[in-house]
Amino acid sequence: MNDDVIIEQPKESDIEALRGLFSRALAPHYDGDHDAHLSRLIEAYHADGYDTNGFNSLAQVGYVARHTPGGHPIGYINLAIKRHGTAKVSPLIVDPSARRKGVGEALLNTAPNNVRMLYCTVSQDNIEACTFFIRQGFVKVGEIHDQYRRGKTELLLQRTSSHHHLNNAASYELVRVSEPKQWRQFTEISESMHVNQPLPTVTTVTYSPLRTETDPINRKTKTAYISVSPNGQSLGGFILSKKKGGSTKLSTIVWANEDALSYLLTELTKVDEFRETVGRVYVHVPAELINTRIFQKHRWRLDALIPGLHNEHEVAAQWSTSPTSDNVAIEGVSTFMEPQNWTNYHRALREVITARQWDAFETPQELLVSLMAEVGELAEELQWKSRTFTRDLDRGRIGAEIVDIYNYLLRLSWHIDINLLETAFLKLARIKEKYPLEKARGTAKKYTELE
Ligand SMILES: CC(C)(COP(=O)(O)OP(=O)(O)OC[C@H]1O[C@@H](n2cnc3c(N)ncnc32)[C@H](O)[C@@H]1OP(=O)(O)O)[C@@H](O)C(=O)NCCC(=O)NCCS
Repeated sequence: MNDDVIIEQPKESDIEALRGLFSRALAPHYDGDHDAHLSRLIEAYHADGYDTNGFNSLAQVGYVARHTPGGHPIGYINLAIKRHGTAKVSPLIVDPSARRKGVGEALLNTAPNNVRMLYCTVSQDNIEACTFFIRQGFVKVGEIHDQYRRGKTELLLQRTSSHHHLNNAASYELVRVSEPKQWRQFTEISESMHVNQPLPTVTTVTYSPLRTETDPINRKTKTAYISVSPNGQSLGGFILSKKKGGSTKLSTIVWANEDALSYLLTELTKVDEFRETVGRVYVHVPAELINTRIFQKHRWRLDALIPGLHNEHEVAAQWSTSPTSDNVAIEGVSTFMEPQNWTNYHRALREVITARQWDAFETPQELLVSLMAEVGELAEELQWKSRTFTRDLDRGRIGAEIVDIYNYLLRLSWHIDINLLETAFLKLARIKEKYPLEKARGTAKKYTELE
């Protein structure tokens, strides 16, 4: 941290400077009355932090950063201390001229030690802040769409005070189960440790060397791994099964404790079956506190909550990851680039446009003309080709033209503030109404002509 940064409680004379920090830093990302927010915090500071307006917030604790005692504020943090023993960072702001010098970190370090969990929501587009919090040990626990601003996605980030580390992990080795002795140990630990579901009774199918001795239906490749130390101790293990379509299922996972589960998920990423998976690697585990925490920490994706999957009183969570997904990479901005989907594409397109300041040249009319020009280019690709087989078309060029059209359409809808997805669903509902299945099936008639 920069030595000339002083952290102090805010003073009356800071209010104007804080107001400036608030509106400049927050308005681009968040709707809402930032002035009113600041006024509420100042009111609480006057009452020794006590938040008279709070329902969940017991107290508001604020600090400013300065270069000199009593000098101009260069940063500010407020922590809303909740009655649940947690605290929300709301907000943390460093003046642009003082960023990336450790001021943000110094302010975050003011969080009291007795808070069991710190959390915040940060707009997914706010790459600076997202990266900052992730580097500070925060974990993404969810994405919230349309909560603070329509069309925006917020990341819900949290950091718990327990930072477990296995200090003897190095003495363990993950080995592929290949001998009956190892398999016996695997079955033993599955009875004494946590396991996502009990092992089936016909167990010999579950590791490759003995697989052929049993039921041919179970010939799908299954491989078991177990972590062992030189003195025969184990932290747990897992069984991998190859699935249709190139995915891999972590059909069984056995773990001694929270740290061991975390260790196993790291080791898993090093085994061949994981690295060679072309689709998703997935697992079903009970939706419980510790499992959830660890899978989130390792950036797995929650695919589904399945009530009653393994037993009728339990909800199973399906978590997945993939060797190619950026989820596995811990560092960097790309962390936030989730697997390819339209939401992420739209955000990436917006970033490309705003970074180049192209919005300045765009008007709905310009976009519309560009759109029509692209439609013309697409038409050129298909001109005189109605008798050409699809495989003989230049699909690369056609694809590129379709993308140009899509991009212009999107940009047009952004410009006139149309929520394309919502409108598309509404329109679909209308189409279904106008063209009831029983009347419209197999005919190209207009709805006014349908009997
Ligand atoms: C988020 C914020 C408070 C960080 O303050 P800061 O003083 O720059 O933070 P620090 O210097 O302690 O840490 C900087 C680290 O954050 C990450 N980071 C910050 N800006 C980044 C950027 N543009 N690109 C990549 N990483 C970035 C890096 O890990 C960086 O470390 P490095 O400089 O060694 O690479 C500051 O960017 C800010 O005020 N943003 C606007 C307000 C806001 O959005 N607040 C969050 C919502 S409450």
